[in-house]
Amino acid sequence: MDFVENFFLPPSSDHLFLIKYLILLIYFIHMPFISLIIGGTFFSLFFRILAVLNNSSFYYRVSDFFVEKLIFRKTAGIILGVLPLVILTLIEGQVFYDAHIAIVQFLVYSTILVAMGITMVYFYEASIRMRFNSVVTFISGAGSVFFLFLGYFVFCVDSSLILDPGRWAVVKGFSDFLFSWNVVARFNHFIFTAFAVSGAGLLFLTFNWQETQEKLEAGFLKQIRKIAGGITLAFTLLQPILLFWNLVTMPAISLSESVFSIAVVVILLIFIICVHLYKILQDQRVKPSNRIFILFIITLIFILANDHLARENSIQNHTALLTSRALEVENEITTEREQLRAAAIKVDPNLGKQVFENQCLSCHRFDQKVVGPPYNEVLLKYSGDEKALEDFIRKPSKVNPDYPAMPQLGLSESEIKSVAAYLLQVFQEKQ
Ligand code: HEC
Repeated sequence: MDFVENFFLPPSSDHLFLIKYLILLIYFIHMPFISLIIGGTFFSLFFRILAVLNNSSFYYRVSDFFVEKLIFRKTAGIILGVLPLVILTLIEGQVFYDAHIAIVQFLVYSTILVAMGITMVYFYEASIRMRFNSVVTFISGAGSVFFLFLGYFVFCVDSSLILDPGRWAVVKGFSDFLFSWNVVARFNHFIFTAFAVSGAGLLFLTFNWQETQEKLEAGFLKQIRKIAGGITLAFTLLQPILLFWNLVTMPAISLSESVFSIAVVVILLIFIICVHLYKILQDQRVKPSNRIFILFIITLIFILANDHLARENSIQNHTALLTSRALEVENEITTEREQLRAAAIKVDPNLGKQVFENQCLSCHRFDQKVVGPPYNEVLLKYSGDEKALEDFIRKPSKVNPDYPAMPQLGLSESEIKSVAAYLLQVFQEKQ
């Protein structure tokens, strides 16, 4: 993908600083949303299969409920699902400018796969809402889960590759895909966190509003509380293991004290969440508060920030290199511009004559001394060296003690060049 490299300029250090926070912001916006979509579709499909197997209308209803609550409108899918990945691809193109690696390429594939997955999610949603034939529903549900999983698997390959600059030189494209435990750890962490977030999201979206609760009968609500609470608890309990697995399989270069400290904070937050969840599952009177969902989002932000920190540790050298490359390119551009400007200054004999008559004639003649020396006496040393003459006119220096200093005249570049050329030409003709 040569065009990718030609498309981008190396970013400067200010630029990189902004980019760092922009990437984090994109993650903060995209990840919670996509977690709801992935969990919502997966569990909806899961309960649909259970419904068919057990011929149970209750499971059908749970399956519909997941989609109704967790799959937002299509515009949200585009703005929060697809767009952030497109922007991320463009940004990473800047960050990994000139790294000769497939990072941007992987991201392009991942974005395409996720976009296909999200499109199929909306097919699935429509087929449930409009009660399509169940084969269509299954195919679109399975397709969306497949594409989303594959898309984020590629995404994990990409982010794992970013962490390991040692491999950048070897990996040239998708064919060089190297299996690594970190990819597996990341993917599991991503999917199971998405499941946990979607469980917490379902609790939040069902129990946080009085109207939603009034519309549904107590028995169904009780079941939803159990299912959503159970999913959340199960996948939250897995978090410390997944987090640890991800850290252990990361290359040493990514790790630092802060990465470990944040991991400890995350585990503490997870502990608090689990205590809350346990209470909800145990005691039906405890209201599943929105506190859990908010705690979850905070935990997710910490997890993402931690991963970003690891990434920053890994790409430190690359960033330094980029910054110096940016300076080089900036210098190249400046020299090029100066050359262009110099070429744009034209020597015009008429202008030269005009400047001579208006500016020089008051102090100079060719053959007689006025305020300044006669040109016939001083121009000889400049014939063949027009540039030296230009330099003198631009900024006169003191030469002959018999004369006062010549003042600086404030001429434009083309006036200087033209008058110098004109004087030398007249001087040569007189010889
Ligand atoms: C206000 C008077 C004045 C004006 C106007 C003036 N000059 Fe001079 N010029 C001088 C004086 C005085 C010297 C002698 C300076 C010295 O020897 O230090 C001089 C010296 C020079 C010399 C000789 C430099 C050398 O190496 O000995 C050149 C060439 C020259 N002027 C070109 C120009 C040109 C071209 C213009 C018009 C664009 C111009 N001058 C306008 C006063 C003037």
